[in-house]
Amino acid sequence: MLLPLKNTSIKQRLTYIIMAISGVSVLLTTLAISIIGVYNLRATILRDLDISASIVGDRNTAALLFNDDKLAESNLNVFSVQQTISQACLYNQMGMLFASYNNKQSEKARSSSCPSDLTERAVIGKKHIEVMKPIVKMQDKIGSIYIESTLEQITSYIEKQTRIALAVVIAVLGISYLMATLFQRTISRPILNLADTARQVSIRKDYSIRAAYDGDAEREYNNELVILTRSFNDMLSEIDARDHQLKAQNTELEKAKELAESANRAKSHFLANISHELRTPLNAIIGFSSILMNQLFGPMGDQKYLEYSRDINESGSHLLDIINDILDLSKAEAGKLTLNYEEVHVGKAINKSITIVAERAAKSKIEITTDIPKMLPPLVADRLRLIQIILNVLSNAVKFTEEGGSMHISVRLQETESGTSNFIISIKDTGIGMGQDDIEKAFQRFGQVDSGLNRKYEGTGLGLPLTKKLMELHHGDVAIESELGRGTNVILTFPAVPPVGVEYTPND
Ligand SMILES: Nc1ncnc2c1ncn2[C@@H]1O[C@H](COP(=O)(O)OP(=O)(O)O)[C@@H](O)[C@H]1O
Ligand SMILES: [Mg+2]
Repeated sequence: MLLPLKNTSIKQRLTYIIMAISGVSVLLTTLAISIIGVYNLRATILRDLDISASIVGDRNTAALLFNDDKLAESNLNVFSVQQTISQACLYNQMGMLFASYNNKQSEKARSSSCPSDLTERAVIGKKHIEVMKPIVKMQDKIGSIYIESTLEQITSYIEKQTRIALAVVIAVLGISYLMATLFQRTISRPILNLADTARQVSIRKDYSIRAAYDGDAEREYNNELVILTRSFNDMLSEIDARDHQLKAQNTELEKAKELAESANRAKSHFLANISHELRTPLNAIIGFSSILMNQLFGPMGDQKYLEYSRDINESGSHLLDIINDILDLSKAEAGKLTLNYEEVHVGKAINKSITIVAERAAKSKIEITTDIPKMLPPLVADRLRLIQIILNVLSNAVKFTEEGGSMHISVRLQETESGTSNFIISIKDTGIGMGQDDIEKAFQRFGQVDSGLNRKYEGTGLGLPLTKKLMELHHGDVAIESELGRGTNVILTFPAVPPVGVEYTPND
């Protein structure tokens, strides 16, 4: 019932509520007054009838005593002046009807004939009011009188009351409508102002707008609507201030980001250049130490020279590896690393990588097993980068596996949801493993897991980040499953179907 009210404006709602309250209260008041009036009226009517019965009864004593029905008849006729009396009956001592009076005009309201029940009573019935009274002379009952009155007085009273009530209710509704429209403004205006301001703010995204209060805000400090408006404005000021602060901070951040980006670009550029510059002399060092180590120009005098030249060669190669990784990584980060796609025989690439680490594995007595299906379709990838990826993971497996451990390399095709299939290369070892938290760290640059245990392993922490970058360039993914002390499984996933737009040379 209240639902239509819920969707109206606050103005209308306040007006309706005020009108409803005053209308209902006036209605209830007039109803209460009318009910009390009816009760009073009933009592008055009964009392009047009772008095009339006593007077007319008294007046008829002589008629009854002298058995003069003519006198009785004329005595009863006095009721003709009282329109509401519809019937009067006079009974003698024996209870026999002695004389009667009928009001012709109230024929309908009257009961058909004088009642035979002579019990003393004064009753208001549904159709009429009746009074039966004994006539007593010297403590002797000499007869009875019965008077019947119509309900006209009561019904006309009720009708009159209803008309008055209706008029009053209409008048009150009218007045309360006027007063409500006048007074609801003090409540609705500030709320409407607030709603309007909120709407403006949200549409224009302008937090400098403020809600106005039309009254005397200074003096009405106890008025909740003033407090609400003030708090709302304070809140807007707060948001406005924060907005400005945020914008200023954003500009700062933007600047800082640009600065950082340009610094990063400069760093990559520098690294690429310096790595390139370092590689030339390093290649000379490796080349010449290799000549020395292999005694190409005749034997060396002292065994120590041979050892040193071997050290120079090893350190040089190691340094070159690091420099190459740094170069690759900076190139990849600068987006300058491009792939040369071709059809690659995955089995061959894996076997080639295994050959490279085989010697180191054999030294640590690590057993390497493979599971490579014969009938694999070619993988579209950069062959050298693929070998680099596998080699990175394989060297880690060899490096972090204790003597006597084992490694298992497997390849399989896996159907994807979209109906294509992926190449899954898994490189599993039984090495020292990593904790869950360390896996994420291992993918960060220089993110060697510092468990205290692996400090004995040399390395730079560039292999895995580079592997990740190279996998991303291939639209693939690298994941690590590992458990401390149990071993590690590195899973490389390549899309078997080359990504759209990739050009490659079919060969192999
Ligand atoms: N197979 C593995 N078993 C245990 N730990 C590994 C393995 N592979 C990588 N890690 C951990 O991840 C770190 C990062 O690896 P990587 O980036 O290749 O750097 P590096 O080999 O130079 O240490 C390693 O230092 C090692 O702590
Ligand atoms: Mg490594």
